[in-house]
Amino acid sequence: MKTLIISGSPRKNGDSMTLVNEMIKYLDGQVRVIHTYNNNISPCVDCRYCWHNKGCSINDEMQELYQLLNEVDNVIIASPLYFSELTGQLLSFASRLQLFYVSRCIRKDSDFKLKKKNGVLLISAGGDTRDYDRSKRTANIIFHQMNTTLIGSVSTIHTNETPAKNDIEALDKSRELALKLNELHNNLSMN
Ligand SMILES: Cc1cc2nc3c(=O)[nH]c(=O)nc-3n(C[C@H](O)[C@H](O)[C@H](O)COP(=O)(O)O)c2cc1C
Repeated sequence: MKTLIISGSPRKNGDSMTLVNEMIKYLDGQVRVIHTYNNNISPCVDCRYCWHNKGCSINDEMQELYQLLNEVDNVIIASPLYFSELTGQLLSFASRLQLFYVSRCIRKDSDFKLKKKNGVLLISAGGDTRDYDRSKRTANIIFHQMNTTLIGSVSTIHTNETPAKNDIEALDKSRELALKLNELHNNLSMN
């Protein structure tokens, strides 16, 4: 089983990564973590190269991710809430998924294929999460573009007072979701 984790946090040992690391402890197979704050992934500049050509004109690490998104079995998105949204760096990565939309809907490429995957959303928030739905809606759009079915989400809130490492409920749920991804993959392999 292969899992791609996309982190939208600038804090490599922060709350979102605490939940990610809890999942990694239990996930079977190979795991690759992309830190959107450190990787060389530029935002889409709407150059429209992909309207007329296969692929994206920007030659950066996203080229490898396009391939990975056709290979992995699971995608996990982990992000802190910034102004009640996923972070800008994560949205910058997500803008490059426009290639998939254009291939399907504008260029209508009959050869275009994108592997079906399972997904999990991990959210950290310093305060309460009254506006949390907005980030979930955004994440759903991103998962849809990646042909990924969201199987569950975890949020850790009030991290200003209680960091994720002390949020037993969120840690438990992260572990459960890792085990669920393993199980779904095993079931698929048996059929
Ligand atoms: C620029 C900025 C904006 C933030 N906006 C929100 C917010 O709208 N709602 C909230 O609950 N927390 C907000 N926070 C707090 C973070 O979501 C919180 O500290 C989170 O646990 C950090 O996760 P990380 O350690 O994975 O980066 C904000 C923090 C920063 C730096």
